[in-house]
Amino acid sequence: MKQVFSRLMLSSAWALMFVVIFTKQATAQLNPYQYSIAKSAVGKKGAVASAHPLASEVGLQILKKGGNAFDAAVATQLALAVVYPGAGNIGGGGFLVAHTQTGKSIAIDYREKAPGAANRNMYLDKEGNPRLDLSQSGHLASGVPGTVAGLFTTHAYCKLPFAELIEPAIALAEKGFSITKGEASALNNHKNGFIKYNTRPTAFVKDQPWKEGDTLVQAELAATLKRIRDKGAAGFYEGETAQFIVQEMQRGGGIITLEDLKSYKAIERNPIVFNYKEHTIIGMPMPSSGGVLTQQMLKMIENRSIGTMGFHSKEAVQLMIEVERRAYADRAEFMGDQDFVKVPVKRLTSDSYLQERMKDFVAGQASPSTTIKAGAIQPESEETTHLSVADQWGNAVAVTTTLNGGYGSMTVVGGAGFLMNNEMDDFSVKPGVANMYGAVGKEANAIQPGKRMLSSMTPTLVLKNEKPYLVIGTPGGTTIPTSVFQTIVNMLEFGQSPLDAVNLPKFHHQWLPDQVMVEKDFPSTLKTDLEKMGYKVTPRGQIGRTEVIKISWKGKRIDTIEAVADKRGEDHASAY
Ligand code: GLY
Repeated sequence: MKQVFSRLMLSSAWALMFVVIFTKQATAQLNPYQYSIAKSAVGKKGAVASAHPLASEVGLQILKKGGNAFDAAVATQLALAVVYPGAGNIGGGGFLVAHTQTGKSIAIDYREKAPGAANRNMYLDKEGNPRLDLSQSGHLASGVPGTVAGLFTTHAYCKLPFAELIEPAIALAEKGFSITKGEASALNNHKNGFIKYNTRPTAFVKDQPWKEGDTLVQAELAATLKRIRDKGAAGFYEGETAQFIVQEMQRGGGIITLEDLKSYKAIERNPIVFNYKEHTIIGMPMPSSGGVLTQQMLKMIENRSIGTMGFHSKEAVQLMIEVERRAYADRAEFMGDQDFVKVPVKRLTSDSYLQERMKDFVAGQASPSTTIKAGAIQPESEETTHLSVADQWGNAVAVTTTLNGGYGSMTVVGGAGFLMNNEMDDFSVKPGVANMYGAVGKEANAIQPGKRMLSSMTPTLVLKNEKPYLVIGTPGGTTIPTSVFQTIVNMLEFGQSPLDAVNLPKFHHQWLPDQVMVEKDFPSTLKTDLEKMGYKVTPRGQIGRTEVIKISWKGKRIDTIEAVADKRGEDHASAY
């Protein structure tokens, strides 16, 4: 538990310790040893917003070379796997939601899956007590990684050769780059974990503490990336890299096999598509709860004139809290990997069901979670990362990827140089038993071999007149869908700029625990108003790190593309 708290504290520390250097536009040339951070950037031809300046700039360079938004999304993800090892990854998984210039909406699922030897009781001791230490850290915590398969599935929509997209990541890993203040602090905070959970020396541990500006070289990771460049997905899921993964698992008590790796497949799924007033929303389907929750929350407010209530009015905030509560109650009861369990998505998102759900809503009065019937909430870590990309042709791509906890399982694959995820903890390790964040999960998300663990990741697009208008997403575990929901409402209903919609204080209710979590700068009068209505309001650290791109059209042509990177981290916006 101590470790969990230190990881949570870390997210807040990043925001506190980090000194943002605001610049109007991103630097033209990529210099991995000297770079600054831009929180907003406006262009006409393309934009990228991600968790790290070097990754956003890699994406921008790919756009400038003639790549489309898919090319840039692939290159940015690969760069994040090098420069943002806490969440960027090739040892984890993710989701992509996109809209192409030809009008097609796409969802790619490259979520990790449980290894073939997994079973529902694998994190229980002989007495049936949960072993959260095993589901959260070290070799047994890892699901079979999906990211590399996802990148190659995405590549079908790209223009440039994969070798060109991976080259910047290889150079960053091989020659190194200067680390940020946040990264130095995070690496120092995890030093003991890296020592404890590794069987071989890693690039992340050195004798002296890391400091801002130090160079991080990852030679083994560079070699792995070269195998992927040369052999495609087989350069990861087969041959030398796969051997390294399995040998690492065997040294540390993990269960991923060569067969698990070889059989991993990313899946193109039908995205969640629905209308919110005059806009169309495109979201991620199961095994992410994100798209369904966004649909439920938006549909529950759609006919309630929230725009006229006003941003941060007590009426609007209370309404949003109550729809969040109801949607998350459903998440806990019904949601899981649809390939393994029946999730009643049609019913959960139907107008009649959602109207019924709001029948007991009373304006000005908290409805206690004891009276809102459903199962229990599945806990999730907050260390994930999101990138938004748009190009001059009208392609828009939203990608959220994760290792789960900060630096995932903290196990680096010996010889291969990348971190493995601890995504198995996103399953319900024992139905009804409190997990990592003091909450409980249920049957729909129980562990089964080959099953994907339920996620909250919510890469989302908003279309206007059938053209991409907003590209949105964020990390933040269970707070992800509420952050995306609030960002959409802030812009579509309260008329906010992307910068305000991203940066103004957020709040979160997830049914259980029955409390409203608010950021530290949430207005104190509003907090008092909510308490008078019967809410328990708990201030906490930052909620999410949202990246938004807004595309403005003049008829059939793009007028401007505006990228905004969240103030809460070292996130960076690039555009040209
Ligand atoms: N591990 C975070 C999520 O998938 O929601």
